[in-house]
Amino acid sequence: MTRRNFLTGTAKAIVTAIVTGVMAVAAYFMYPAGLRARAMVYCDCMDEDALPKKGVKRAEYRYKLKGNEMAHSVFIVNDERGVYALSPVCTHLGCLVNYNRLKNEFICPCHGGKYDVSGKVISGPPPAPLTRLPLKIENGRVYIGIMLPATAAA
Ligand code: FES
Repeated sequence: MTRRNFLTGTAKAIVTAIVTGVMAVAAYFMYPAGLRARAMVYCDCMDEDALPKKGVKRAEYRYKLKGNEMAHSVFIVNDERGVYALSPVCTHLGCLVNYNRLKNEFICPCHGGKYDVSGKVISGPPPAPLTRLPLKIENGRVYIGIMLPATAAA
């Protein structure tokens, strides 16, 4: 890594942290307290037996929000780090990434952002790694944790 790359990366990280902080503060004051309160909800995803023995598998988890059935995709990864869940939402502008089995990396179709199998940015414009989602296994089922408004989670 050259000094210029290091300084550019550091500057990007600082700008991203500042922008994220400002947006979080703005969102905090723009929304009423009832909407701000959030709670972790674990959503049913798959049978434990369906977990990938090794590698990456796309799965879906479901939950109800205000009476509507919601479904989102998630990547379940099993590698030397263990089993973990990655959000497919690109951290650049929110497109959904695809997994390329031959290259063993996630590729964003919108602007070419690339992530390694752990979700770390390899190249392109994404400012941060793919988000790891909480994952738990209970009674033979795999659950993905997401934050929902407390009123919807009850
Ligand atoms: S939205 Fe993924 S690289 Fe731009």
